[in-house]
Amino acid sequence: FMKRRKKWSHYPPGPVSLPFIGTMLYVDFCNPHLSFNQLQKKFGNIFSLQNCWTNVVVLNGYKTVKEALVHKSEDFADRPYVPMYEHVGYGNKSEGIVIARYGHVWKELRKFTLSTLRNFGMGKKSLEDRVTEEAGFLCSAVSSEKGRPFDLRFLVNNAVCNVICTTIYGERFHYGDDTFKKLLHLFENSLNEEAGFLPQLLNVVPILLRIPGVPQKVFRGQKAFMDFIDVLINKHMETWNPAYIRDFSDAFLKEMEKGKMAEESGFNYNNLRLVTADLFAAGSETTSTTLRWAVLYMLLHPEIQSKVQAEIDKVIGRERSPTMKDQVSMPYTSAVIHEVQRYGDVAPIGLPHMTYRDTELQGFFIPKGTTIIINLSSVLKDEAVWEKPNEFYPEHFLDANGQFVKPEAFLPFSAGRRACLGEQLAKLELFIFFTTLLQKFTFVLPEDQPRPWEDGHFALTSSPHPYLVQAVPR
Ligand code: HEM
Repeated sequence: FMKRRKKWSHYPPGPVSLPFIGTMLYVDFCNPHLSFNQLQKKFGNIFSLQNCWTNVVVLNGYKTVKEALVHKSEDFADRPYVPMYEHVGYGNKSEGIVIARYGHVWKELRKFTLSTLRNFGMGKKSLEDRVTEEAGFLCSAVSSEKGRPFDLRFLVNNAVCNVICTTIYGERFHYGDDTFKKLLHLFENSLNEEAGFLPQLLNVVPILLRIPGVPQKVFRGQKAFMDFIDVLINKHMETWNPAYIRDFSDAFLKEMEKGKMAEESGFNYNNLRLVTADLFAAGSETTSTTLRWAVLYMLLHPEIQSKVQAEIDKVIGRERSPTMKDQVSMPYTSAVIHEVQRYGDVAPIGLPHMTYRDTELQGFFIPKGTTIIINLSSVLKDEAVWEKPNEFYPEHFLDANGQFVKPEAFLPFSAGRRACLGEQLAKLELFIFFTTLLQKFTFVLPEDQPRPWEDGHFALTSSPHPYLVQAVPR
């Protein structure tokens, strides 16, 4: 292998590779984006690593990332195979969407999911109505804390997961519901299992996964979460009526009915459970973490919170529920939400890509099958683009007249063919939840509490360390 790597001329530079483990010691897998920032300073915007014998190239900075994901979108559209998911059912024609290989099945499932999410706006309640309704439940739950210090995390998680639940199963859960509590608990365990050195090692040396009991032991939470999804889907199938589509699961089951062609395009039972798990995994933690960053920044910058509230009072008032139409008249609030996403940097290294064919980027040769890490953090904090990259500064998104502007380097949802599929839903949730919360409450730091940390805790997403807050009714 080393011989082959040496033969490639113009392969990106990188640290010296050690036998067997490659360059794995150079990366802190609990904070990979911080290691990448250091390596970027030494080797430039495109550098190479080696996880055991897997070739990895890391792309940094807006210019490089845009060139790869936008101008050479298909070259970088594949995903590396992830052996550690095999034990929950990933395999041929059953890969869900998030980690599916680039090709026909992924295209069909992505197209179907995008259009099904969009079509929920037709007929009955729109997605926006559902989010608005959930924001009302969230505010009631916050009210019942009666101004006492509490950790907002659980309530926000409940609200965001409920949006996914209504989309997939057509119903929401009460925040105290035992089934719901179990679902959230299992989900959190399954996410925590993916961070750190061990899962990385198992992925690049999948033979270790063949040792009896290893996947079951290391990924116990993932298995339990998938078993739980199975229970929910099976319950749903009992009440399924093809003449009446209630939600995403029903729409998927209807596709499965269409026979062999649909089967070829990936509409099978295994994919229903995997796509469902994908929507939970990709859609809930990211959005709820962003909302927790938003409240944390409001605690740390009370003057910014007051300005947002003044705009809410002026445009919406204290009684009417916020709607997406209000957004255009609220440049300051929009700027604050965008700055929360930029500075909060919830998906600092996005999801791994893989080159679909041999390609070339800024003079470097990158062969087909190379794992590509998009250092989104280096884009959102690119010193060549942002005036104050390492400060919370909503003015990044305002022009001289106070109008909202969006710099091109705002890429928290990534870009190109594999860009986030839930961007519209996420934006809807962030705007409606954030404005409804600030319309009803002022968030303050409890007197006896230390100032919360601004640096994140990394476990696929980067989230705030736990903090307590008081919600004072307005
Ligand atoms: C992929 C960010 C919310 C569904 C991604 C990626 C990022 C991202 C960085 C990787 C893109 C790439 O590989 O280049 C975010 C952020 C969110 C959010 C910051 C919230 C603030 C959502 C929601 C959903 C969702 C609400 C669904 C309901 C997906 C899916 C993919 C994805 C399915 C995989 C797309 C593919 O591989 O084709 N997201 N996301 N995301 N996201 Fe999101």
